[in-house]
Amino acid sequence: MHTIGVLTSGGDAPGMNAAIRAVVRTGAYHGIRVMGIKRGYNGLINGDMDDMDARSVSETLQKGGTILQTARCLEFKEEAGVRKGVEIAKVFGLDGLIVIGGDGSFRGALDLCRAGLPTVAVPGTIDNDIGCSEYTIGYDTCLNTVQDAVDKLRDTSTSHERCSVIEVMGRGAGYIALNAGIACGAEVVLVPEIPYDFDEDVLRPILEGKARGKKHSIIIVAEGVGVSVIEMAKEIQEKTGIEARATILGHVQRGGSPSVRDRVIASEMGSKAVELLMEGKSNRIVCMQNSKVVDVDIEEGLQMKKKLSEDIMKLAKKLSV
Ligand code: ADP
Ligand code: F6P
Repeated sequence: MHTIGVLTSGGDAPGMNAAIRAVVRTGAYHGIRVMGIKRGYNGLINGDMDDMDARSVSETLQKGGTILQTARCLEFKEEAGVRKGVEIAKVFGLDGLIVIGGDGSFRGALDLCRAGLPTVAVPGTIDNDIGCSEYTIGYDTCLNTVQDAVDKLRDTSTSHERCSVIEVMGRGAGYIALNAGIACGAEVVLVPEIPYDFDEDVLRPILEGKARGKKHSIIIVAEGVGVSVIEMAKEIQEKTGIEARATILGHVQRGGSPSVRDRVIASEMGSKAVELLMEGKSNRIVCMQNSKVVDVDIEEGLQMKKKLSEDIMKLAKKLSV
């Protein structure tokens, strides 16, 4: 393994820079040349990449986003795009590749392995929705951002005795919503994994909470539920007579300086990815299992499912009395 490439793909996540830095510096430590590939798979198929050394990742550990930029590359979903990627990797002398991203990016990594380019994937997504990994880089920072925002919304909701309906990210998963719900004491948490009844699971807790003397209601809705929080707030107001306001937290959740947890785990995972390639391993996802950084086969990892904890869901309900 003389030269490896590193890229970030899909939605960015705080801590991606810490992972890139770990790749570059672990490479430098072992005398391996590292090339930073720009804009995800776009940069690979267009040969948009540059040498990186230990100094080119100085002052990046604390920065949100990704210094390599990221993108969604449709061309790479086609066989011809993957073939082109492998050819360009050969032209630049890449012996291996590290892909930091979510499950979509991992499918691309699997295709590259099958086409002959040794590739290792690192989970970087705020959604925490990678089945084989207890943790994905960016999740903790995102939760802290959500917590800060919901705490502020709670202040104004309490002052006005209102209901606050808040949409958080999570394309197909409710991890952000559920854990923000616990951390922020939400009255209601709606996630895509669990169906809900509007009267029973939304209106009833709001009205019962008010009857028990609550001055506000916080309703956290995961984006993946697929409802409009604006419409939901209107309906709550119409049906309960309690003033309701909607907030979509949006992309603010993807930014910010990474938390300690994200920096540490990203550093461990990035370094592990380089070591796997050095050991001659390919087709692996670096992941967290039983609180340890380990690795699994990409295809097997993509098939693994993790369940949203029903106990935590029950806890959210229990603690909202
Ligand atoms: P994430 O990696 O965050 O899940 P996406 O699902 O948007 O984000 O995937 C990021 C990129 O990974 C896509 O733009 C595409 O280049 C590549 N990709 C996604 N799905 C596939 C696939 N099935 N085969 C090959 N490449 C894919
Ligand atoms: O997958 C990460 C994520 O932030 C999702 O939570 C969200 O649905 C999506 O990316 C948004 O993507 P975009 O950057 O295309 O708006």
